[in-house]
Amino acid sequence: MNLAIVGSGYVGLVTGACFAEVGHRVICVDNDLKKVHQLQDGNIPIYEPGLEEIVKRNVAAGRLSFTASIGDAVEASKVIFIAVPTPPQPDGSVDLSFVEGVAREIAIHIKEYRIVVDKSTVPVKTGEKVAQTINRYNPGAPIDVVSNPEFLREGSAVEDLMKPDRIVVGVSSERAVGPMKEIYEPFKVPIMITDLNSAELIKHASNSFLALKISYINAVAAVCEASGANVERVADGMGADKRIGRDFLNAGVGYGGSCFPKDLSAFIRISEELGYNFRLLKEVEAINRDQKERFLKKVRESLWVLRHKKIGVLGLAFKGNTDDVRSSVAIAIVQQLIAEGAEVRAYDPKAMEKAQPLVPEAKMTERAEDVADGADALLLLTEWNEFKSLPWAAIKKRMLSPLLFDGRNLLDPAAIRALGFNYTGIGR
Ligand code: UGA
Repeated sequence: MNLAIVGSGYVGLVTGACFAEVGHRVICVDNDLKKVHQLQDGNIPIYEPGLEEIVKRNVAAGRLSFTASIGDAVEASKVIFIAVPTPPQPDGSVDLSFVEGVAREIAIHIKEYRIVVDKSTVPVKTGEKVAQTINRYNPGAPIDVVSNPEFLREGSAVEDLMKPDRIVVGVSSERAVGPMKEIYEPFKVPIMITDLNSAELIKHASNSFLALKISYINAVAAVCEASGANVERVADGMGADKRIGRDFLNAGVGYGGSCFPKDLSAFIRISEELGYNFRLLKEVEAINRDQKERFLKKVRESLWVLRHKKIGVLGLAFKGNTDDVRSSVAIAIVQQLIAEGAEVRAYDPKAMEKAQPLVPEAKMTERAEDVADGADALLLLTEWNEFKSLPWAAIKKRMLSPLLFDGRNLLDPAAIRALGFNYTGIGR
C-alpha cells in the first residue's frame, strides 16, 4: 500500500523504514530540509540498532523516499500517519501545535478518501480534534481519523516494531478497519480494534503503568536497604508470578527519557481536565524524583564534601543502547555534582556528543576506563551492557579511592568487592 509518514523523528523514521521493509511504498515527510537531504543520502540522524541497514536497503529498492512536501505525500498515499513531536509544556500538558499544524496542512491537500492516522503520543480526545480540524479547513473532506499508538522502545525500536506484542487501532468508522488491517497483515500479530478514545488511552495507561512498576520497585529498594534484603531477589520472586512479570522491576536511579516523564505528566493533566485527580501517578512521579536524591545522598554521605572531588561517571544516555539524553537521570545527576563543585569526567558509548552541551563543565573521555584517573568515586548511571566487562581491576588501580556507586545494579557485587571496590548498589 502507498503510505505517508509525516515527521521523520524516532517514531516516524523507524515506522516508515519498517513499513517499507514489509513491502509497502512509503514516503517520509519532514519540514527540516537539511534532515530530508541527509536521509536521502543515507545518513541516519539517530543511533538505533539495525535502522541504517533497513533504511539503505529500502531506499535502494525504491520503497522508501523522503520529501519536505506534505502535499506530494498526501496525493500519493491512501493512509497518512502523523508522527510529529508532542513536546511537554511547563504545566505538564503537551504541546499539540505540531499535530494541529500537520492536520491543517493535510486537510488542504485532500481530494479523495484518505485515512489520517495519529501515531504521535497524544492525550485522549486528540483524534476527535484532528477530525474536526480537517473538516474545518476542508469541509466535507472524505476522511477517517485513526489512532494507532506506538509501543517501541528506543534502543530496540526496530525489533519492537517488526515483532510487536499487539497492534492497537482505534477507529471512528468501520471504513478504516480494512486498510489498517492490510497495512499490519505482514507483521502477523494480533490487531486490536477499539474506538478512538480507548486507543489513545491505551498508550498513556501503558506507559504510566510501566513507570509505576519502576517506582514501585524503587520504593521496595528503599525498604530493602533499610532491612538488609536484596531487591534483585525480591524482584525475581515477584516477577516469577505471571500476573506480575519480571520486566520493568529493575531498581535504579529512576526512569527518564522522552516518554515516561512527559506521558505521566500529560496523563495526570488530561485526567484532571476530565475531572479525575490521578493521585497514584503523582506519587509515582514523586518517588522517581526522590530516587535521584536518595542516590546523590549516598554519594555525599561517602565523600562528605563534593567540592573539588574527582568523580568518574559511566553512562549519560537515559538508558542503554541509545544516544538519547532527553530527561536523562544521568545528566541530572552530573549537573547536580557539578553544581556542588565536583570535577566530573564522563564516558558514554554513544551519548557523549549529545550530552556535552548539557554538561559543558564535564570532561568527556575517549575510553570508559579513563574516567577513573585519580577519581575519588565512580558512578555507573546507564545500563550499558558493555560496562559489565570493563577491566575493573585496572580501573581500580587508577582511582584515588575505590568507591563505586552502581546506579543500575549492573555489576555483580561479590565479584566487584573481591577486586577491592567499596561497592554500593540500589537496594542490595
Ligand atoms: C517507553 C516504553 O517502554 C515504550 O513501550 C513506548 O513506546 C515508549 O516509551 C514511547 O512512549 O515512545 P523508552 O522511553 O524508549 O520506551 O524506554 P524504556 O525502555 O521504557 O525505559 C524508560 C526508562 O525507564 C529508562 O530511563 C530506563 O532506564 C528506565 N527503567 C526501565 C528502569 O529504571 N527500570 C526498568 O526495569 C526498566
